[in-house]
This record gives sequence, C-alpha cells and structure tokens, in this order.
Amino acid sequence: MSDAIAIIGGTGLCDWESAETIASQTIPTPYGEASAPLRRMRFKGSEFVFLPRHGDGHRFPPHKINYRANIWALESEGIGKVIAVNAVGGIHPDCGTGALVVPDQIIDYSYGREHTFYDGSDGRLDHVDFGEPYSTHLRSRILAAGQQLKMPLVDGGVYACTQGPRLESAAEIQRLQRDGADLVGMTAMPEAGLARELGLEYASLCLVVNPAAGLSSEPITMADIQKVIDSGMQAVKQVLAAAVNA
Ligand code: HPA
Repeated sequence: MSDAIAIIGGTGLCDWESAETIASQTIPTPYGEASAPLRRMRFKGSEFVFLPRHGDGHRFPPHKINYRANIWALESEGIGKVIAVNAVGGIHPDCGTGALVVPDQIIDYSYGREHTFYDGSDGRLDHVDFGEPYSTHLRSRILAAGQQLKMPLVDGGVYACTQGPRLESAAEIQRLQRDGADLVGMTAMPEAGLARELGLEYASLCLVVNPAAGLSSEPITMADIQKVIDSGMQAVKQVLAAAVNA
C-alpha cells in the first residue's frame, strides 16, 4: 500500500491558505468530477494531497458530494492513506464543543447517495469487510500526533452519519443516543465505505462544533458554529501536519 497521504477537508477546511500549493491537478474519473482539483501541498514540513470535500468555496452539500469521484481520484493518483476531517455535533459528554475526536465506529443513516463502486454496472461484485470502518494504524498515528503536541484527543467514538443538510430534531438525536452514537455528522458515509472498497487506509479527525440538537438550551446557529471552527481548525491543522510527518 502506498505511503502517499491525502487529507480530505470538511466544513471549515475548504481551503488551507497557510499551506503552500506545490501542484494542482484535475483528475478525470469514470464517475465524473471530483469536488475540486487534487492539490499537492506543504505545511510545516509535511507534504500531502489536499481535497476539499465540499469543493472550492464550499459548494456541495453533504448529499450532493461526488464521493465516488473523490475516492477514485485519490486512489488513481497513488494515494494509500486518507485522513478525513469532519465537523460534527457532539452527543457524548466527552465530545463537548471544541473537542477533537478520532472515531472508531460508524452508523450510517444517510440515504440515496451513490455509495458503492460495486453497483453492478460492470459485472464486478464484492462485499468488503467493514467491521472496523477506520484504519487502526492511521487512527494511532493521529492519536500519537496529538500526544506529541500535548493536545488532548478523544480516542474512539461512534459517528452517526445523517443525511442533512438540515440539522436533526431533538428526538432524532435521542434515537442516535440510544443507538450508541457519540457524534453526529453528515459526511463520513459513503466516504469511508468507498475508501475501504478501493483498499485505502482511512481515518477521521472530527472537530465538535456544536452540542447536538436538544442537548443545549440554546438553538444551534451557524454563527456559533463558525466561531468554534475558526479556533478549532488551527488545532486540527497542527495535528494533521504532525500525523502526516509521523
Ligand atoms: N448534526 C449533523 N451534522 C453536523 C452537526 C450536527 O449537529 N454539526 C456539524 N455537523
């Protein structure tokens, strides 16, 4: 498996102005266009390929992202490892606003997304193992980066992937809580499943940007979320750079 590493940036990490762009390339795929050109970037001595999941300027809502083209483009460029960044709502008390979490499980509540490369169109079929949806090795690398930087990261958590783009009702969050979810976001799937289908190592670094619906007395506003993103993404970038270098 290739050691080349890609970072898929989520909400709050659509562009990485403080990083130097070394090259940028639009990759054709059988599934259409990826969210953006793949950018080879350098940050604090670390080199990686960067792909903003929502496109340049945050154009694509979670259910309209071309996840298959994104993962295909990365694999076809020789990427073997992907660190995904996801902004999420916190459900478990350990996942308070501003926390950085490295989840270890996923429950998929999304629907109607192109979610597999094995869609029967070319006669190929496989059922990949997804018991451990995130790569243990890559998760350890992210956690070690946090330790090295003396930044506390939450080790493990169940990511519930909802359809969006609206946020959840309080009752929906209570249901996710009963299901065992610790975090809620809209973009882990089908991305993680597609990465597994193409044999890429995949892990996620989540920034908790709000308490999930019904868990705080205040309504969730984009203005409040933005404040958390502005401060939290600085920490995310430090951890990513250290994890890439590890
Ligand atoms: N729910 C779903 N997705 C999210 C949330 C949320 O509360 N916050 C950030 N992404």
